[in-house]
Amino acid sequence: MNILITEAEIGERIGQLGRQIEADYQGRPLTIVAILTGSLIVLADLIRKIQLPLRVALLQASSYKGATTSAGALIINESFAPDVAGRDVLLLDDILDTGHTLNTLVHRMADRGALSVKTAVLLRKKGRQEIAIEPDYCGFEIPDAFVVGYGLDYDDDYRHLPYVAVLPQLQGSGVDSDETGHYVRRTPQQ
Ligand code: IMP
Ligand code: MG
Repeated sequence: MNILITEAEIGERIGQLGRQIEADYQGRPLTIVAILTGSLIVLADLIRKIQLPLRVALLQASSYKGATTSAGALIINESFAPDVAGRDVLLLDDILDTGHTLNTLVHRMADRGALSVKTAVLLRKKGRQEIAIEPDYCGFEIPDAFVVGYGLDYDDDYRHLPYVAVLPQLQGSGVDSDETGHYVRRTPQQ
């Protein structure tokens, strides 16, 4: 595993983002709508750095299915859809990649009557964006590599790593283990 962003760096940046959000909303109540599953860890850390009246709501969206790094169709599960009518919403995701997920959900929140909709991402991957959307809050810009840890997964593993790391050698096929001993299934799907 090549560590790209350390636990300490993430902690410091989350603190800065929290202070920035507090200053911007100036005491107004905020609803953070976190996009499961990748944003779980950043959600837990970020909300503890924000001193505002705060509600947390969850949506599930997934575009990566199983052992593949190619984006598939976007699936949105709204069974826990929050009531955002008349509220200031901050959509929170782990990473901005092509931009489809955030862009779709911004419109969804607006359709549901949100007073305002802003976006926050822990990571923004350079060189992959297909939709012109500028996140209002961004933790780190990263190069075009597949990353895991701190909520981000590959085939539902690695979310629990306390840092962000580049997953090596995704090409090829068969089963290999990385240096942490995890088995990585190498079956890229179209
Ligand atoms: P977008 O819709 O292409 O912007 O994709 C955003 C979603 O793709 C994120 O919520 C992640 O779940 C997933 N994703 C994109 N890049 C990565 C990555 O490098 N590692 C893990 N998940 C990723
Ligand atoms: Mg995700």
